[in-house]
Amino acid sequence: MKCCIRYKGNMDCVKKKRFMFCVMFFVSVLTFSVLYRLQVRIGFLMFSTKLTPLSFMCLNEKKQQDTQNNEDTSNTDSESSTKCDLNGIWTIKPDGRLGNQMGEYATLYALAKANGRQPFILPEMHSYLAPIFKITLPVLHQDAVNLISFKEYWIHDWMSEEYNHVDETFLKFTGYPCSWTFYHHLRDDIRREFTIHDHLKKEANQVLHGMKGSRTDVTYIGVHVRRGDYVSVMPNVWKGVIADRGYLEKAMGYFRKKYKEPIFVVTSNGMDWCKDNIDNSRGDVYFSGDGNESTPGKDFALLMSCNHTIMTIGTFGYWASYLVGGEAIYLTNFTLPDSEFLKLFHYDAAFLPEWIGIAADLSPLLH
Ligand SMILES: *[C@@H]1O[C@H](CO)[C@@H](O)[C@H](O)[C@H]1NC(C)=O
Ligand SMILES: *[C@@H]1O[C@H](CO)[C@@H](O)[C@H](O)[C@H]1NC(C)=O
Ligand SMILES: *[C@@H]1O[C@H](CO)[C@@H](O)[C@H](O)[C@H]1NC(C)=O
Repeated sequence: MKCCIRYKGNMDCVKKKRFMFCVMFFVSVLTFSVLYRLQVRIGFLMFSTKLTPLSFMCLNEKKQQDTQNNEDTSNTDSESSTKCDLNGIWTIKPDGRLGNQMGEYATLYALAKANGRQPFILPEMHSYLAPIFKITLPVLHQDAVNLISFKEYWIHDWMSEEYNHVDETFLKFTGYPCSWTFYHHLRDDIRREFTIHDHLKKEANQVLHGMKGSRTDVTYIGVHVRRGDYVSVMPNVWKGVIADRGYLEKAMGYFRKKYKEPIFVVTSNGMDWCKDNIDNSRGDVYFSGDGNESTPGKDFALLMSCNHTIMTIGTFGYWASYLVGGEAIYLTNFTLPDSEFLKLFHYDAAFLPEWIGIAADLSPLLH
């Protein structure tokens, strides 16, 4: 550069300067476009997570609209800006089996609504629930899940006022929420979300119809006896008990007294225990669930087609009771008062006030 100033009119030098300028310009454009492409493809620069994925989603939506409304040029901008009102992505960590996942789904549904945010479920939850229920929440694509860094937000299993005022754009709830206190004001929505697919409903109704025989005034009572891992976890970890034969006898006695021709439809993941411990001398008990934990839809459909419910412990029976909407009998006070379980689980948040609680016999824990 200096040389050009000192020797004005030196054509070689001016050419060289122009040439250098062109090279620099070309290299800058190339570098910029390579970096831009890299950023768009793999996002190697991390900007604040506040806006990037949302902006992309809104951009896509706008593009689609622009191409749709090609001829109709009026108002495209304001239309797309009102349509793209996505103000966040809220989801929940899928954890546990059917009853837990239902609780997580319903809680996400309600808390997102309370905070005016858009709920999405993760693909794992969709593959668990969608084969059984006609759920409607949108599913986040795995690519989007990988792109977004969610703020995790742990919730306990009962509603708190603070959950109505959560201010996060990209939020993932964690925990095992299931309590009706989150969503009972939206009960109709929740029951619609958990409508069972027609083929499962049809199959369950055929099974129930087959039990009826010559009875004319039948009342079906779904009985869910949760055993499996709880048989050892309750006493050993939580200083608690699970349902025993005394509880089931009392609960069934209530319905036998109240209805002329009750039929008890038992589902369990410990059917052998049920057959040994449930009195069927009246011939009104049907051990019909297959208890297969990898295909819970069949047993759940059976319970949901009944008129009333007897639950023991766990979220599977809870959900059957909640969705059936008839009378429900539950086991309560099933841990010692100093159990750690009571820090995670509140009886009044777990069971509806109108349901009938029968206190557990804790005597096995005392010896
Ligand atoms: C449970 O169902 C699955 C899928 O239909 C089947 O492969 C498996 O053998 C069943 N398990 C039992 C214990 O019946
Ligand atoms: C009880 O359940 C059966 C089977 O789902 C149904 O057909 C019947 O209408 C129900 N009865 C009442 C009183 O709801
Ligand atoms: C369970 O325990 C609570 C607190 O001790 C008590 O008020 C309640 O009556 C008990 N429930 C039943 C069904 O016995």
